[in-house]
Amino acid sequence: MVAPARKKSVAHHHPHHDLSHESTPTKTHHHRVKNAERKRTASISKEDGMEYNKRVRKLHKAFLNQGDQIVREEEKQPASGSSSDVELPLFDPDCDPENPKKLVFADISSAAFNIKNGVQLTPCVRSLQLSTKCEMDLYFKKEYLQVTGSFKERGARYALSRLGEKYRKAGVIAASAGNHALALSYHGQQMGIPVTVVMPVIAPLMKIQFCRSLGANVILKGETIAVAKDFALRHAKENGLKYINGYDAIDILAGQGTIGLEILDQVPDVDTILVPVGGGGLIAGIAVAVKTLKPDVHIYGIESETCPSFTEAYEAGHVVSAIAKASLADGLAVPTVGGNSLETAKGLIDKVITVKEESIALSILRLLEVEKAVVEGGGAVGLAAILEGKVPELKGKKVVSILSGGNIDTTVLGRSIERGLAVDGRLVRLEVVVSDRPGGIAELTTTIAHLGASIKDIFHERAWISTDVFHVKVKVVAETRGKEHVEEIEVALKKMYDNVLLH
Ligand SMILES: Cc1ncc(COP(=O)(O)O)c(C=O)c1O
Repeated sequence: MVAPARKKSVAHHHPHHDLSHESTPTKTHHHRVKNAERKRTASISKEDGMEYNKRVRKLHKAFLNQGDQIVREEEKQPASGSSSDVELPLFDPDCDPENPKKLVFADISSAAFNIKNGVQLTPCVRSLQLSTKCEMDLYFKKEYLQVTGSFKERGARYALSRLGEKYRKAGVIAASAGNHALALSYHGQQMGIPVTVVMPVIAPLMKIQFCRSLGANVILKGETIAVAKDFALRHAKENGLKYINGYDAIDILAGQGTIGLEILDQVPDVDTILVPVGGGGLIAGIAVAVKTLKPDVHIYGIESETCPSFTEAYEAGHVVSAIAKASLADGLAVPTVGGNSLETAKGLIDKVITVKEESIALSILRLLEVEKAVVEGGGAVGLAAILEGKVPELKGKKVVSILSGGNIDTTVLGRSIERGLAVDGRLVRLEVVVSDRPGGIAELTTTIAHLGASIKDIFHERAWISTDVFHVKVKVVAETRGKEHVEEIEVALKKMYDNVLLH
Protein backbone atom coordinates (compact mmCIF):
# COMPACT_ATOMS: atom_id res chain seq x y z
CA MET A 1 0.00 0.00 0.00
CA VAL A 2 1.24 3.46 -0.83
CA ALA A 3 0.98 5.98 1.95
CA PRO A 4 -1.34 8.90 1.17
CA ALA A 5 1.58 11.18 2.02
CA ARG A 6 3.36 9.99 -1.09
CA LYS A 7 0.48 10.84 -3.35
CA LYS A 8 0.04 14.26 -1.87
CA SER A 9 3.68 14.93 -2.11
CA VAL A 10 3.92 14.01 -5.76
CA ALA A 11 0.99 16.21 -6.62
CA HIS A 12 2.42 18.94 -4.48
CA HIS A 13 5.88 19.15 -5.89
CA HIS A 14 5.68 17.92 -9.41
CA PRO A 15 2.66 17.74 -11.64
CA HIS A 16 1.29 21.18 -10.96
CA HIS A 17 4.69 22.65 -10.79
CA ASP A 18 5.25 21.28 -14.23
CA LEU A 19 1.93 22.32 -15.67
CA SER A 20 2.10 25.83 -14.37
CA HIS A 21 5.81 26.58 -14.76
CA GLU A 22 5.77 28.08 -11.29
CA SER A 23 7.62 26.95 -8.26
CA THR A 24 5.88 27.91 -5.00
CA PRO A 25 3.10 25.49 -4.22
CA THR A 26 0.81 27.66 -2.09
CA LYS A 27 -2.86 26.97 -1.60
CA THR A 28 -3.90 29.86 -3.90
CA HIS A 29 -1.43 28.64 -6.42
CA HIS A 30 -2.96 25.17 -6.38
CA HIS A 31 -6.43 26.55 -6.86
CA ARG A 32 -5.29 28.76 -9.70
CA VAL A 33 -3.50 25.93 -11.44
CA LYS A 34 -6.36 23.57 -10.82
CA ASN A 35 -8.83 26.00 -12.32
CA ALA A 36 -6.61 26.72 -15.27
CA GLU A 37 -6.20 23.00 -15.82
CA ARG A 38 -9.93 22.43 -15.54
CA LYS A 39 -10.57 25.12 -18.15
CA ARG A 40 -7.89 23.67 -20.31
CA THR A 41 -9.24 20.12 -20.30
CA ALA A 42 -12.79 21.38 -20.75
CA SER A 43 -12.00 23.25 -23.92
CA ILE A 44 -9.15 21.14 -25.19
CA SER A 45 -8.73 21.25 -28.95
CA LYS A 46 -7.08 18.81 -31.31
CA GLU A 47 -3.94 20.94 -31.54
CA ASP A 48 -3.38 21.58 -27.89
CA GLY A 49 -4.50 18.03 -27.09
CA MET A 50 -1.09 16.80 -28.23
CA GLU A 51 0.69 19.38 -26.16
CA TYR A 52 -1.42 18.47 -23.16
CA ASN A 53 -0.67 14.78 -23.62
CA LYS A 54 3.03 15.53 -23.73
CA ARG A 55 2.81 17.36 -20.44
CA VAL A 56 0.83 14.61 -18.78
CA ARG A 57 3.39 12.06 -19.96
CA LYS A 58 6.11 14.22 -18.50
CA LEU A 59 4.25 14.23 -15.22
CA HIS A 60 3.93 10.47 -15.28
CA LYS A 61 7.65 10.18 -15.81
CA ALA A 62 8.38 12.58 -13.00
CA PHE A 63 6.02 10.61 -10.83
CA LEU A 64 7.72 7.31 -11.62
CA ASN A 65 11.30 8.57 -11.38
CA GLN A 66 10.96 10.74 -8.37
CA GLY A 67 8.37 8.93 -6.32
CA ASP A 68 10.80 7.34 -3.89
CA GLN A 69 12.79 10.47 -3.38
CA ILE A 70 9.56 12.33 -2.71
CA VAL A 71 8.49 9.80 -0.13
CA ARG A 72 11.74 10.42 1.72
CA GLU A 73 11.26 14.16 1.53
CA GLU A 74 7.72 13.72 2.71
CA GLU A 75 8.88 11.79 5.71
CA LYS A 76 11.04 14.75 6.69
CA GLN A 77 8.29 17.30 5.99
CA PRO A 78 4.79 16.05 6.74
CA ALA A 79 2.17 17.10 4.20
CA SER A 80 0.54 20.46 4.74
CA GLY A 81 -3.24 20.46 4.79
CA SER A 82 -3.31 22.60 1.68
CA SER A 83 -2.43 19.79 -0.67
CA SER A 84 -5.33 17.54 0.18
CA ASP A 85 -7.49 18.83 -2.68
CA VAL A 86 -4.78 18.70 -5.31
CA GLU A 87 -5.68 16.54 -8.32
CA LEU A 88 -2.96 14.21 -9.44
CA PRO A 89 -2.90 12.65 -12.88
CA LEU A 90 -2.36 9.06 -11.79
CA PHE A 91 -0.66 6.46 -13.83
CA ASP A 92 -1.54 2.96 -14.97
CA PRO A 93 1.72 1.09 -15.69
CA ASP A 94 -0.11 -1.39 -17.98
CA CYS A 95 -1.16 1.43 -20.26
CA ASP A 96 1.69 3.88 -20.67
CA PRO A 97 1.25 5.89 -23.88
CA GLU A 98 5.01 6.60 -23.77
CA ASN A 99 5.82 2.90 -23.91
CA PRO A 100 2.90 1.26 -25.68
CA LYS A 101 2.70 -2.52 -25.75
CA LYS A 102 1.55 -4.46 -28.78
CA LEU A 103 -0.88 -7.34 -28.72
CA VAL A 104 0.32 -10.49 -30.51
CA PHE A 105 -1.69 -13.32 -32.03
CA ALA A 106 -0.61 -15.82 -29.36
CA ASP A 107 -2.37 -13.68 -26.72
CA ILE A 108 -5.63 -14.05 -28.64
CA SER A 109 -5.35 -17.83 -29.01
CA SER A 110 -4.61 -18.04 -25.32
CA ALA A 111 -7.68 -15.90 -24.59
CA ALA A 112 -9.88 -17.99 -26.89
CA PHE A 113 -8.87 -21.14 -25.04
CA ASN A 114 -9.27 -19.54 -21.64
CA ILE A 115 -12.67 -17.92 -22.03
CA LYS A 116 -14.48 -20.43 -24.20
CA ASN A 117 -16.45 -21.86 -21.30
CA GLY A 118 -17.12 -18.49 -19.74
CA VAL A 119 -18.63 -16.39 -22.53
CA GLN A 120 -21.20 -17.01 -25.27
CA LEU A 121 -20.16 -18.02 -28.74
CA THR A 122 -22.55 -15.53 -30.32
CA PRO A 123 -24.28 -16.15 -33.65
CA CYS A 124 -23.15 -14.38 -36.80
CA VAL A 125 -26.19 -14.39 -39.02
CA ARG A 126 -27.01 -13.12 -42.52
CA SER A 127 -29.78 -10.54 -42.61
CA LEU A 128 -32.13 -11.39 -45.43
CA GLN A 129 -33.92 -8.05 -45.62
CA LEU A 130 -31.01 -5.73 -44.93
CA SER A 131 -28.76 -7.62 -47.37
CA THR A 132 -31.27 -6.87 -50.11
CA LYS A 133 -31.83 -3.30 -48.99
CA CYS A 134 -28.12 -2.49 -48.67
CA GLU A 135 -27.14 -4.48 -51.78
CA MET A 136 -24.52 -6.56 -50.01
CA ASP A 137 -24.29 -9.84 -48.17
CA LEU A 138 -24.73 -8.43 -44.70
CA TYR A 139 -24.07 -10.46 -41.56
CA PHE A 140 -24.47 -9.40 -37.96
CA LYS A 141 -22.21 -10.68 -35.19
CA LYS A 142 -24.62 -10.56 -32.27
CA GLU A 143 -22.48 -9.64 -29.27
CA TYR A 144 -25.43 -7.99 -27.53
CA LEU A 145 -26.47 -11.55 -26.70
CA GLN A 146 -23.73 -11.91 -24.08
CA VAL A 147 -25.18 -12.25 -20.56
CA THR A 148 -24.51 -8.63 -19.61
CA GLY A 149 -25.34 -7.37 -23.08
CA SER A 150 -21.93 -6.66 -24.61
CA PHE A 151 -18.67 -8.05 -26.00
CA LYS A 152 -16.80 -6.50 -23.06
CA GLU A 153 -17.21 -9.80 -21.22
CA ARG A 154 -14.55 -11.40 -23.38
CA GLY A 155 -11.75 -9.08 -22.31
CA ALA A 156 -13.00 -8.92 -18.74
CA ARG A 157 -13.13 -12.70 -18.42
CA TYR A 158 -9.66 -13.14 -19.84
CA ALA A 159 -8.14 -10.36 -17.73
CA LEU A 160 -9.64 -11.92 -14.60
CA SER A 161 -8.44 -15.38 -15.57
CA ARG A 162 -4.87 -14.06 -15.84
CA LEU A 163 -4.69 -12.63 -12.32
CA GLY A 164 -2.18 -14.06 -9.90
CA GLU A 165 -3.14 -15.31 -6.46
CA LYS A 166 -2.59 -11.89 -4.85
CA TYR A 167 -5.12 -10.01 -6.98
CA ARG A 168 -7.57 -12.90 -7.15
CA LYS A 169 -7.89 -12.44 -3.41
CA ALA A 170 -7.57 -8.65 -3.16
CA GLY A 171 -9.70 -7.99 -6.24
CA VAL A 172 -9.81 -5.67 -9.22
CA ILE A 173 -11.07 -2.19 -9.87
CA ALA A 174 -12.17 -0.34 -12.99
CA ALA A 175 -13.67 2.98 -13.95
CA SER A 176 -16.57 2.61 -16.34
CA ALA A 177 -20.07 3.96 -16.78
CA GLY A 178 -21.31 0.91 -18.54
CA ASN A 179 -20.39 -2.25 -20.33
CA HIS A 180 -16.90 -2.87 -18.92
CA ALA A 181 -18.24 -2.41 -15.40
CA LEU A 182 -21.07 -4.88 -16.01
CA ALA A 183 -18.74 -7.40 -17.62
CA LEU A 184 -16.22 -7.29 -14.75
CA SER A 185 -18.96 -7.45 -12.12
CA TYR A 186 -20.54 -10.51 -13.69
CA HIS A 187 -17.36 -12.48 -14.31
CA GLY A 188 -15.88 -11.43 -10.98
CA GLN A 189 -18.92 -12.92 -9.33
CA GLN A 190 -18.67 -16.07 -11.44
CA MET A 191 -14.99 -16.50 -10.62
CA GLY A 192 -15.12 -15.45 -6.97
CA ILE A 193 -12.95 -12.37 -7.48
CA PRO A 194 -13.95 -9.16 -5.66
CA VAL A 195 -14.76 -6.34 -8.08
CA THR A 196 -14.96 -2.62 -7.41
CA VAL A 197 -16.32 -0.37 -10.12
CA VAL A 198 -16.07 3.38 -10.01
CA MET A 199 -18.84 4.99 -12.00
CA PRO A 200 -19.41 8.68 -12.64
CA VAL A 201 -22.46 9.99 -10.81
CA ILE A 202 -24.23 10.41 -14.15
CA ALA A 203 -24.09 6.66 -14.88
CA PRO A 204 -27.52 5.22 -15.68
CA LEU A 205 -29.26 3.99 -12.54
CA MET A 206 -30.11 0.71 -14.26
CA LYS A 207 -26.42 -0.08 -14.79
CA ILE A 208 -25.47 0.94 -11.25
CA GLN A 209 -28.11 -1.39 -9.85
CA PHE A 210 -27.18 -4.20 -12.22
CA CYS A 211 -23.52 -4.03 -11.09
CA ARG A 212 -24.59 -4.01 -7.46
CA SER A 213 -26.88 -6.97 -8.01
CA LEU A 214 -23.88 -8.81 -9.42
CA GLY A 215 -22.10 -8.30 -6.12
CA ALA A 216 -19.74 -5.51 -7.20
CA ASN A 217 -18.70 -2.75 -4.86
CA VAL A 218 -19.98 0.27 -6.76
CA ILE A 219 -18.47 3.66 -5.97
CA LEU A 220 -20.05 6.72 -7.56
CA LYS A 221 -17.42 9.38 -8.10
CA GLY A 222 -17.12 12.50 -10.25
CA GLU A 223 -19.08 14.00 -13.08
CA THR A 224 -16.96 12.43 -15.78
CA ILE A 225 -15.27 9.14 -16.45
CA ALA A 226 -11.89 10.91 -16.24
CA VAL A 227 -12.52 11.83 -12.60
CA ALA A 228 -13.82 8.33 -11.88
CA LYS A 229 -10.67 6.85 -13.43
CA ASP A 230 -8.40 9.07 -11.41
CA PHE A 231 -10.20 8.01 -8.26
CA ALA A 232 -10.08 4.34 -9.25
CA LEU A 233 -6.32 4.46 -9.82
CA ARG A 234 -5.85 6.10 -6.44
CA HIS A 235 -8.14 3.58 -4.76
CA ALA A 236 -6.27 0.72 -6.45
CA LYS A 237 -2.97 1.93 -5.02
CA GLU A 238 -4.29 2.52 -1.58
CA ASN A 239 -6.06 -0.81 -1.34
CA GLY A 240 -3.75 -3.05 -3.31
CA LEU A 241 -6.26 -3.74 -6.10
CA LYS A 242 -5.52 -4.42 -9.74
CA TYR A 243 -6.71 -1.63 -12.02
CA ILE A 244 -8.09 -2.96 -15.31
CA ASN A 245 -8.41 -0.51 -18.18
CA GLY A 246 -11.41 -1.57 -20.27
CA TYR A 247 -10.02 -0.62 -23.68
CA ASP A 248 -6.25 -0.64 -23.39
CA ALA A 249 -4.97 -3.43 -21.12
CA ILE A 250 -3.35 -6.08 -23.32
CA ASP A 251 -5.43 -8.91 -21.82
CA ILE A 252 -8.56 -6.94 -22.64
CA LEU A 253 -7.47 -6.54 -26.26
CA ALA A 254 -6.70 -10.26 -26.42
CA GLY A 255 -10.17 -11.17 -25.16
CA GLN A 256 -11.87 -8.87 -27.67
CA GLY A 257 -9.73 -10.38 -30.43
CA THR A 258 -11.53 -13.70 -30.00
CA ILE A 259 -14.48 -12.16 -31.88
CA GLY A 260 -12.22 -12.00 -34.94
CA LEU A 261 -11.45 -15.73 -34.69
CA GLU A 262 -15.14 -16.58 -34.40
CA ILE A 263 -16.08 -14.42 -37.39
CA LEU A 264 -13.50 -16.15 -39.60
CA ASP A 265 -14.95 -19.46 -38.51
CA GLN A 266 -18.56 -18.41 -39.03
CA VAL A 267 -18.15 -16.46 -42.29
CA PRO A 268 -14.91 -17.81 -43.79
CA ASP A 269 -15.15 -15.77 -47.01
CA VAL A 270 -15.91 -12.43 -45.35
CA ASP A 271 -14.60 -9.38 -47.26
CA THR A 272 -14.94 -6.64 -44.67
CA ILE A 273 -15.62 -6.42 -40.94
CA LEU A 274 -17.21 -3.25 -39.53
CA VAL A 275 -15.99 -2.62 -35.99
CA PRO A 276 -17.30 0.06 -33.58
CA VAL A 277 -14.47 2.04 -32.01
CA GLY A 278 -14.35 3.68 -28.60
CA GLY A 279 -11.00 3.43 -26.83
CA GLY A 280 -9.79 1.10 -29.58
CA GLY A 281 -9.48 -2.21 -27.71
CA LEU A 282 -12.08 -4.04 -29.77
CA ILE A 283 -10.71 -3.04 -33.14
CA ALA A 284 -7.09 -3.67 -32.10
CA GLY A 285 -7.89 -7.21 -30.94
CA ILE A 286 -9.97 -8.05 -33.98
CA ALA A 287 -7.44 -6.56 -36.39
CA VAL A 288 -4.59 -8.71 -35.01
CA ALA A 289 -6.70 -11.87 -35.10
CA VAL A 290 -8.04 -11.32 -38.60
CA LYS A 291 -5.01 -9.86 -40.33
CA THR A 292 -2.80 -12.63 -38.97
CA LEU A 293 -5.03 -15.38 -40.34
CA LYS A 294 -6.48 -13.64 -43.40
CA PRO A 295 -4.63 -10.46 -44.33
CA ASP A 296 -6.98 -9.78 -47.26
CA VAL A 297 -9.99 -9.24 -45.07
CA HIS A 298 -10.63 -5.53 -44.62
CA ILE A 299 -11.14 -4.00 -41.21
CA TYR A 300 -13.12 -0.76 -40.97
CA GLY A 301 -13.38 1.22 -37.74
CA ILE A 302 -16.54 3.24 -37.12
CA GLU A 303 -17.15 5.94 -34.55
CA SER A 304 -19.62 8.75 -34.02
CA GLU A 305 -18.66 12.13 -35.47
CA THR A 306 -19.34 13.55 -32.00
CA CYS A 307 -16.09 11.99 -30.73
CA PRO A 308 -13.67 11.22 -33.58
CA SER A 309 -10.79 10.34 -31.25
CA PHE A 310 -9.66 7.21 -33.07
CA THR A 311 -9.89 8.84 -36.50
CA GLU A 312 -7.72 11.71 -35.31
CA ALA A 313 -5.23 9.50 -33.48
CA TYR A 314 -4.92 7.07 -36.39
CA GLU A 315 -4.26 9.95 -38.77
CA ALA A 316 -1.77 11.59 -36.43
CA GLY A 317 -0.03 8.31 -35.60
CA HIS A 318 -0.22 9.02 -31.89
CA VAL A 319 -2.80 9.44 -29.16
CA VAL A 320 -4.55 12.83 -29.19
CA SER A 321 -7.37 14.23 -27.09
CA ALA A 322 -10.59 14.88 -28.99
CA ILE A 323 -13.65 16.63 -27.66
CA ALA A 324 -16.42 14.23 -26.73
CA LYS A 325 -19.91 15.61 -27.22
CA ALA A 326 -23.09 13.87 -26.11
CA SER A 327 -23.86 10.94 -28.38
CA LEU A 328 -26.32 8.14 -28.89
CA ALA A 329 -23.20 6.00 -29.05
CA ASP A 330 -22.23 6.77 -25.44
CA GLY A 331 -20.06 3.65 -25.18
CA LEU A 332 -17.80 5.01 -27.93
CA ALA A 333 -17.35 8.46 -26.41
CA VAL A 334 -13.75 7.97 -25.28
CA PRO A 335 -11.92 11.28 -25.86
CA THR A 336 -8.45 9.71 -25.75
CA VAL A 337 -7.95 6.27 -27.25
CA GLY A 338 -5.65 3.73 -25.64
CA GLY A 339 -1.93 3.88 -26.46
CA ASN A 340 -1.56 0.08 -26.61
CA SER A 341 -4.67 -0.19 -28.78
CA LEU A 342 -3.47 2.45 -31.20
CA GLU A 343 0.02 0.97 -31.45
CA THR A 344 -1.45 -2.50 -32.02
CA ALA A 345 -3.94 -1.30 -34.63
CA LYS A 346 -1.38 0.76 -36.59
CA GLY A 347 -1.16 -0.40 -40.20
CA LEU A 348 -3.96 -2.95 -39.77
CA ILE A 349 -7.03 -0.77 -40.28
CA ASP A 350 -8.20 -0.19 -43.84
CA LYS A 351 -10.62 2.66 -43.23
CA VAL A 352 -11.79 4.75 -40.32
CA ILE A 353 -15.26 6.28 -40.67
CA THR A 354 -17.33 8.71 -38.61
CA VAL A 355 -21.11 8.62 -38.71
CA LYS A 356 -23.81 11.15 -37.91
CA GLU A 357 -26.09 10.88 -34.91
CA GLU A 358 -29.14 10.70 -37.18
CA SER A 359 -27.69 7.66 -38.98
CA ILE A 360 -27.12 5.95 -35.64
CA ALA A 361 -30.77 6.58 -34.71
CA LEU A 362 -31.93 5.19 -38.04
CA SER A 363 -29.68 2.16 -37.61
CA ILE A 364 -31.10 1.47 -34.12
CA LEU A 365 -34.59 1.66 -35.62
CA ARG A 366 -33.78 -0.67 -38.54
CA LEU A 367 -32.19 -3.25 -36.24
CA LEU A 368 -35.23 -3.14 -34.00
CA GLU A 369 -37.77 -3.40 -36.80
CA VAL A 370 -36.01 -5.75 -39.15
CA GLU A 371 -33.71 -7.83 -36.96
CA LYS A 372 -35.84 -7.68 -33.80
CA ALA A 373 -32.61 -6.70 -32.08
CA VAL A 374 -32.25 -4.14 -29.30
CA VAL A 375 -28.84 -2.62 -30.02
CA GLU A 376 -27.30 0.39 -28.30
CA GLY A 377 -25.95 3.31 -30.32
CA GLY A 378 -22.33 2.14 -30.02
CA GLY A 379 -23.28 -1.24 -31.42
CA ALA A 380 -25.27 0.21 -34.30
CA VAL A 381 -22.58 2.37 -35.94
CA GLY A 382 -21.57 -0.27 -38.51
CA LEU A 383 -25.02 -0.36 -40.08
CA ALA A 384 -25.18 3.43 -39.65
CA ALA A 385 -22.12 3.78 -41.91
CA ILE A 386 -23.83 1.67 -44.58
CA LEU A 387 -27.13 3.57 -44.31
CA GLU A 388 -25.31 6.91 -44.48
CA GLY A 389 -23.66 5.89 -47.75
CA LYS A 390 -20.14 5.99 -46.30
CA VAL A 391 -19.09 2.60 -47.70
CA PRO A 392 -20.33 2.40 -51.32
CA GLU A 393 -17.37 0.15 -52.18
CA LEU A 394 -18.96 -2.65 -50.12
CA LYS A 395 -21.88 -3.13 -52.53
CA GLY A 396 -21.91 -6.76 -53.65
CA LYS A 397 -19.41 -7.75 -50.91
CA LYS A 398 -19.71 -10.03 -47.91
CA VAL A 399 -19.73 -7.81 -44.85
CA VAL A 400 -19.89 -8.55 -41.12
CA SER A 401 -21.06 -5.76 -38.85
CA ILE A 402 -20.45 -6.27 -35.14
CA LEU A 403 -23.49 -5.48 -33.02
CA SER A 404 -21.27 -4.98 -30.00
CA GLY A 405 -23.81 -4.18 -27.30
CA GLY A 406 -27.46 -3.84 -26.41
CA ASN A 407 -27.42 -1.81 -23.22
CA ILE A 408 -29.57 1.13 -24.16
CA ASP A 409 -31.82 2.92 -21.69
CA THR A 410 -35.49 2.56 -22.54
CA THR A 411 -35.93 6.32 -22.62
CA VAL A 412 -32.99 6.69 -25.04
CA LEU A 413 -34.40 3.86 -27.14
CA GLY A 414 -37.72 5.71 -27.29
CA ARG A 415 -36.02 8.89 -28.44
CA SER A 416 -33.93 6.98 -30.97
CA ILE A 417 -37.05 5.46 -32.47
CA GLU A 418 -38.69 8.88 -32.83
CA ARG A 419 -35.53 10.36 -34.31
CA GLY A 420 -35.10 7.35 -36.61
CA LEU A 421 -38.69 7.64 -37.84
CA ALA A 422 -38.15 11.33 -38.60
CA VAL A 423 -34.89 10.63 -40.49
CA ASP A 424 -36.71 7.89 -42.39
CA GLY A 425 -39.49 10.28 -43.43
CA ARG A 426 -42.05 8.31 -41.46
CA LEU A 427 -42.66 11.11 -39.06
CA VAL A 428 -43.17 14.54 -40.59
CA ARG A 429 -43.75 18.01 -39.22
CA LEU A 430 -45.96 20.31 -41.27
CA GLU A 431 -46.76 23.98 -40.90
CA VAL A 432 -49.74 25.17 -42.91
CA VAL A 433 -51.47 28.53 -42.79
CA VAL A 434 -55.23 27.98 -43.18
CA SER A 435 -58.39 30.09 -42.96
CA ASP A 436 -59.49 30.83 -39.42
CA ARG A 437 -63.13 30.73 -40.46
CA PRO A 438 -65.16 27.79 -39.12
CA GLY A 439 -64.13 24.59 -40.87
CA GLY A 440 -60.67 25.83 -41.90
CA ILE A 441 -58.71 23.50 -39.63
CA ALA A 442 -61.17 20.64 -40.19
CA GLU A 443 -60.53 20.91 -43.93
CA LEU A 444 -56.79 20.53 -43.37
CA THR A 445 -57.09 17.50 -41.08
CA THR A 446 -59.53 15.85 -43.50
CA THR A 447 -57.11 16.44 -46.37
CA ILE A 448 -54.25 14.93 -44.39
CA ALA A 449 -56.42 11.93 -43.52
CA HIS A 450 -57.36 11.45 -47.19
CA LEU A 451 -53.69 11.55 -48.08
CA GLY A 452 -53.20 8.53 -45.82
CA ALA A 453 -51.18 10.19 -43.04
CA SER A 454 -52.08 9.83 -39.40
CA ILE A 455 -51.96 12.92 -37.18
CA LYS A 456 -49.98 12.40 -33.95
CA ASP A 457 -49.96 15.98 -32.69
CA ILE A 458 -51.63 19.19 -33.73
CA PHE A 459 -51.71 22.74 -32.46
CA HIS A 460 -52.38 26.16 -33.92
CA GLU A 461 -51.14 29.68 -33.29
CA ARG A 462 -52.66 33.03 -34.20
CA ALA A 463 -50.58 35.70 -32.50
CA TRP A 464 -47.31 35.31 -34.40
CA ILE A 465 -48.36 34.87 -37.97
CA SER A 466 -47.64 37.66 -40.41
CA THR A 467 -50.68 37.24 -42.68
CA ASP A 468 -54.11 38.76 -41.90
CA VAL A 469 -55.97 38.05 -38.70
CA PHE A 470 -58.39 35.73 -40.47
CA HIS A 471 -55.72 33.07 -40.86
CA VAL A 472 -54.15 30.67 -38.42
CA LYS A 473 -50.92 28.68 -38.55
CA VAL A 474 -51.49 24.97 -37.89
CA LYS A 475 -48.59 22.78 -36.87
CA VAL A 476 -49.02 19.06 -37.36
CA VAL A 477 -46.84 16.05 -36.61
CA ALA A 478 -48.03 13.12 -38.70
CA GLU A 479 -47.03 9.53 -39.30
CA THR A 480 -46.38 8.69 -42.93
CA ARG A 481 -45.21 5.73 -44.98
CA GLY A 482 -41.84 7.21 -45.90
CA LYS A 483 -40.10 9.85 -47.98
CA GLU A 484 -42.16 9.34 -51.17
CA HIS A 485 -45.37 9.62 -49.21
CA VAL A 486 -44.12 12.86 -47.64
CA GLU A 487 -43.45 14.25 -51.13
CA GLU A 488 -46.97 13.30 -52.22
CA ILE A 489 -48.43 15.09 -49.21
CA GLU A 490 -46.34 18.18 -49.87
CA VAL A 491 -47.46 18.44 -53.50
CA ALA A 492 -51.13 17.97 -52.57
CA LEU A 493 -51.05 20.54 -49.76
CA LYS A 494 -49.20 23.11 -51.85
CA LYS A 495 -51.98 22.91 -54.44
CA MET A 496 -54.50 23.86 -51.75
CA TYR A 497 -52.57 26.30 -49.54
CA ASP A 498 -50.14 29.16 -50.14
CA ASN A 499 -48.06 28.66 -47.01
CA VAL A 500 -46.86 25.10 -46.50
CA LEU A 501 -43.65 24.15 -44.76
CA LEU A 502 -42.38 20.62 -44.18
CA HIS A 503 -39.60 19.59 -41.82
C1 LIG B 1 -21.29 -1.35 -27.18
C2 LIG B 1 -19.87 -0.96 -27.40
N1 LIG B 1 -19.35 -1.11 -28.61
C3 LIG B 1 -18.09 -0.79 -28.87
C4 LIG B 1 -17.25 -0.28 -27.89
C5 LIG B 1 -15.86 0.11 -28.25
O1 LIG B 1 -14.91 -0.70 -27.67
P1 LIG B 1 -13.45 -0.14 -27.41
O2 LIG B 1 -13.55 0.86 -26.32
O3 LIG B 1 -12.66 -1.33 -27.05
O4 LIG B 1 -13.03 0.49 -28.69
C6 LIG B 1 -17.76 -0.11 -26.60
C7 LIG B 1 -16.92 0.43 -25.54
O5 LIG B 1 -17.31 0.55 -24.41
C8 LIG B 1 -19.10 -0.47 -26.34
O6 LIG B 1 -19.62 -0.32 -25.11
